[in-house]
Amino acid sequence: MRIVDLRSDTLTRPTAAMRAAMAAAEVGDDVYGEDPTVRRLEHMAAALSGKAAALFVASGTMANLVSQLAYCGRGDELILGDQSHVFYYEQGGCAAVGGIHPRTVPTQPDGTLDLAAVEAAVRGDDIHFPVSRLLILENTHNRCNGTPLNVAYMQRAGTLARRCGLKLHVDGARLFNAAVALGVPAAALAAPADSVAFCLSKGLAAPVGSLVCGSVAFIARARRMRKQIGGGMRQAGVLAAAGIVALEEMVARLAEDHQNARDLACALALTDGLRLDPDRVYTNIVFFDVVHPALTAAALAAKLDARGVRVLALGPRSLRAVTHYHITADDIAWTIDTIRSVLGAC
Ligand SMILES: Cc1ncc(COP(=O)(O)O)c(C=O)c1O
Repeated sequence: MRIVDLRSDTLTRPTAAMRAAMAAAEVGDDVYGEDPTVRRLEHMAAALSGKAAALFVASGTMANLVSQLAYCGRGDELILGDQSHVFYYEQGGCAAVGGIHPRTVPTQPDGTLDLAAVEAAVRGDDIHFPVSRLLILENTHNRCNGTPLNVAYMQRAGTLARRCGLKLHVDGARLFNAAVALGVPAAALAAPADSVAFCLSKGLAAPVGSLVCGSVAFIARARRMRKQIGGGMRQAGVLAAAGIVALEEMVARLAEDHQNARDLACALALTDGLRLDPDRVYTNIVFFDVVHPALTAAALAAKLDARGVRVLALGPRSLRAVTHYHITADDIAWTIDTIRSVLGAC
């Protein structure tokens, strides 16, 4: 049966070039700083993000956690959006592992935080209060349709963070999707931040890994935190080799995923029983609501699954489809036909 799996861009499998690079990778013990392929990847990541140094870690969650641990001590406070991945989907790692107190402000529909609300959340100098240390932004914003945060907003956020004595960390799991969608270098989006994390294992199709990028001192501290939480890897060059191919070969083609997502969104917006605004789809993530009276999101996802189209039900009415390397324009056309046929039969 034909399967079009739109649940996530994390489903991407390594390319032939990645597998060849992994097999041929020169390796060493990375905890001793002796893996030349990891070092090369870290240098590439630092250069692409415009930061002085970078650290290869196992996942986006680990990248965000070591960053929070590097900036904050027990009882410190960090400010982040209530729809952010760090707050929503990372098991409260900051509190569970680091004793860090998360303070949320509402995430706006475009993935930004209202900077006046951020400023109002910064604690004053009072013995009763935790100390505000860190602001986290997400770019692109997963739960807000993969919306990219633009350079002007990032600059305003960076200025605010500096004025308030906060560090600014960007969860850029899909930073390159943002850069491609906005037509700007990733470094321009990262410049106002103290650190940025990005993932290799989503739209860039590498099997494993994320990078954290920042100053030399921050990365030294993040490296210690990575070791503390058990993330020191040994001959990790076999993984880094795929990451190098991902950065060299897989960034520009993200534009195809964005076009496929837009085509899907435009068609679904014209489909009876569904609701979405295609003008809010900028990258590879499409959220849509089922408004058919006889269907919940879970019921529609199950019916589609039976026909070979896989999407995620993320709320009673809300579904998510994500385009990626293995999804072609023809897959999108077939998905649209299948969704319309399933809805038409309900
Ligand atoms: C915005 C964002 N940040 C962080 C992560 C975590 O990445 P990982 O699954 O590699 O831990 C994800 C995963 O989807 C994400 O979408």
